[in-house]
Amino acid sequence: MSTPALGVCYYPEHWPEDWWERDAQRMAEVGISYVRIGEFAWSKLEPTPGNLTFDWLIRSMDVLGRNGLKVIFGTPTATPPRWMVDKHPDMLAVDKNGNRRGFGSRRHYDFSHLGYREESARITRLLAEAIGNHPALGGWQTDNEYGCHGTTYSYSPAAKEGFQRWLADKYGTVDALNGAWGNVFWSMEYNRFDQIELPNLLVTEATPAHDLDFRRYSSDMVAAFNKVQYDILKAKRPDLPVIHNFMSRYTEFDHYDVAETLDIASWDSYPLGHLAVSDESAELKRQYMRQGDPDNAAFHHDLYRAVGHGRWWVMEQQPGPVNWAQFNPDPLPGMARLWAWEAFSHGAEVVTYFRWRQAPFAQEQMHAGLLRPDSEPAPAYHEATQVAQELKAVGIEGNATKGRVAVVFDYQSEWAWEIQPQAKGFSHGAHVRALYSAFRKHGIDIDVLPPSTKSFAGYDIVAIPALFAWNDDLRTAIAEFEGHLLIGPRSGSKTQDFAIPAKLAPDLPSNLLDLKVTRIDSIDPSLEIEVKGSGGVHLWRERIETKANVVIEDVEGWPVLVNQGKVYYLGATGTKALVQRVVDYLIEEVDLPVLNLPAGVRCRTRDGFRIYVNYGTGAATLNQASDETGYVLGTAELAAAGVTVARLARA
Ligand code: GAL
Repeated sequence: MSTPALGVCYYPEHWPEDWWERDAQRMAEVGISYVRIGEFAWSKLEPTPGNLTFDWLIRSMDVLGRNGLKVIFGTPTATPPRWMVDKHPDMLAVDKNGNRRGFGSRRHYDFSHLGYREESARITRLLAEAIGNHPALGGWQTDNEYGCHGTTYSYSPAAKEGFQRWLADKYGTVDALNGAWGNVFWSMEYNRFDQIELPNLLVTEATPAHDLDFRRYSSDMVAAFNKVQYDILKAKRPDLPVIHNFMSRYTEFDHYDVAETLDIASWDSYPLGHLAVSDESAELKRQYMRQGDPDNAAFHHDLYRAVGHGRWWVMEQQPGPVNWAQFNPDPLPGMARLWAWEAFSHGAEVVTYFRWRQAPFAQEQMHAGLLRPDSEPAPAYHEATQVAQELKAVGIEGNATKGRVAVVFDYQSEWAWEIQPQAKGFSHGAHVRALYSAFRKHGIDIDVLPPSTKSFAGYDIVAIPALFAWNDDLRTAIAEFEGHLLIGPRSGSKTQDFAIPAKLAPDLPSNLLDLKVTRIDSIDPSLEIEVKGSGGVHLWRERIETKANVVIEDVEGWPVLVNQGKVYYLGATGTKALVQRVVDYLIEEVDLPVLNLPAGVRCRTRDGFRIYVNYGTGAATLNQASDETGYVLGTAELAAAGVTVARLARA
């Protein structure tokens, strides 16, 4: 793996052509290596149908190339021009209430619309031909942020037909579908596939298997859309990476599936915006409003490292205030540097700031860039320059170190508990992130694993929280695993067809875990049930029949943590204190080395270095860890928004 690099997002079509040269020179002065362009430029590339005006694009790439910059070209398919809608009026997606979405912003297309899919193939093919051999080209981005603005699902006639075909393929016979969905209930049985509607505009909820299959279908449409572009781009330039930019806490399609036709995963990291729009507590939001949630970016770095099979970038990095949250604070000085360093510590190959110059017009005129609208440097310009110099000085290369702890993250479990929460707010992602944060507070390196993982070899602890249904790979992985497993709550409580398994949850062989969940108690969120010792049960607890050891129970005698051999089962949703207690207990059982981190400080190791970042508003003093030989960047005194890099002794 090569030395990490910086990038920036640039829109040559937004600026007079005689600005391009100076812009490119200044990018090179900052130490930028990659420039992403093109992803929204369709109306400038094809102003009327078939009238291709790629000359300006090629000239802009010439300028960037001349200044030593590599171009990541984004296919412009997230913003089809107005004439496209005249040509294919039914390409606009339809929302859940049956309303067609309109032209005038972006992402106004339906993944199921085969005519638009063909248009996107056409423009991709033309662009691949026109710029595929340009010497400045360093890679491709497909489209932009699939699913952004709630665009994965469409309830259109095209989606209905596609869904019916998909169901016929999956089930073969309508009887098989009736059986799998439980359609005998409420006389929902179908005679033919073409009678099946989408799961919207019904009198009350659809059967959960219907809803889940619609989400699986919609996810497959995103993957199919991406594959069309990937195949075209790879056919032209097999040597160049194809990348897509995913998002934070966005789970409407299965990213592991989409990444089957990507070479590198990337995501767009806006820590302040993401915290502001999240459902985190008001207290956390106030505490970290200028830094972002200290664990959210890190979690996504680890998630997208998994999605990209080890290769990932930050394609858009927040540089200053954004424009799209309810409040858009100015980051603490130093955060644009810290976020980049944190991404590199988790293995990012490239961190690309969004955007070069703040646009004085249109929707994002309040969104900061590295330059102000008057072309003077904004604070992040200097911070990016500093990062580029520091990267050179420190000389990190290899990937993020393999974690000793792993957490399984599963998109279908996200969908399942949205479809059937049973307790409002019960979320798979929230469980995963709570465990992730509890381990990370101890400075432990964590990996995220997909549910298709066949072996957990090499990990000390693997957590599988709130997994809706087992698959064969995971069953094998847990049966063969020699480390400690933390499973639950709700894991294995459904079959793949969204029914309760015959043996009841967690549906594991009794030699692994002799335990049955016999009843659920979901609780008003304003209540907390005390747990003996410390911590509280919140929202969810399970009545458990078991011969296994009860390690922790609540004051009413319901088991909270149960243990059999190396398997631990968590039968409740807990407060942060309870989750931390469970994690601390496991860490002690396994005797996992931990770091004594000051509050607000986090770290990750990569390639023989440990990178510390301070999300706190005050200075912090590091305790030098026994495996460190000294600091190569910064010192033990970590200012607010500070970064310190320690070198590790060779293992
Ligand atoms: C991203 C998007 C960019 C820009 C940015 C603003 O979601 O990919 O095009 O809109 O947000 O923060």
